[in-house]
Amino acid sequence: SGPQCIAIDGPAGSGKSTVGEQLARQLGYLYVDTGAMYRAVAWLALHKDVDINDGPALGELAQQANIVISHPHINDGRQYTVQVDGRDITWDIRDANVTRSVSAVSSHPEVRKLLITQQQAMAREGQVVMVGRDIGAVVLPDAELKIYLTASLAERARRRHAELVERAGGNADNVPSAEVLMADIERRDAIDHDNMQPAIDAIVIETDYLTVPQVLATLAPYVEDTV
Ligand code: C5P
Repeated sequence: SGPQCIAIDGPAGSGKSTVGEQLARQLGYLYVDTGAMYRAVAWLALHKDVDINDGPALGELAQQANIVISHPHINDGRQYTVQVDGRDITWDIRDANVTRSVSAVSSHPEVRKLLITQQQAMAREGQVVMVGRDIGAVVLPDAELKIYLTASLAERARRRHAELVERAGGNADNVPSAEVLMADIERRDAIDHDNMQPAIDAIVIETDYLTVPQVLATLAPYVEDTV
């Protein structure tokens, strides 16, 4: 019997989504990206013109929405599909508008309480790799393995820039500069700060000088140990 739950936390650009998705694939676990859930609520707020500073209204909005994350393995680069009330918003939730608003939206206890309950229910269904900010400390305090990935701000901005250029087919013309992305990430880090503390029993890995395969290799003994 291996770990039933693996929690991976870290800031934007720490590599947690890439590492989490590959680890889940290796182990045959379900991959749950909780950031996508917060992004879906932020997208809905913008779409329905709900004030991103109005916690009760956002809680209500999230409560009524039917946010579905599925893993059909469509082969266009997506790790999963996000739908809200039947509409596919997988790529929309990556928009700059959503990225700029999501930290404010996720700062409200009304929103967090609801999404955390949903995340805990998903983990009860079986083996998961769950990725976010507060998974090890708050959502799944009993997770068998907790990992916290970090990297310097400059490196995280560099990765985000490379990712956006790749998504634009290699064309950097309409992609914000690494400096602009760095300012965005820094602002988001500051708002996210209170929900971003590593669990005391997390394995902390500094990824600045590590490739994704190297991060996975570093984690392998811990994964095996809990298997
Ligand atoms: O991981 P990603 O950058 O997609 O997360 C988007 C935002 O969602 C974060 O900046 C944070 O505000 C919020 N979030 C959170 N708790 C989580 C996951 C994400 O507050 N567990």
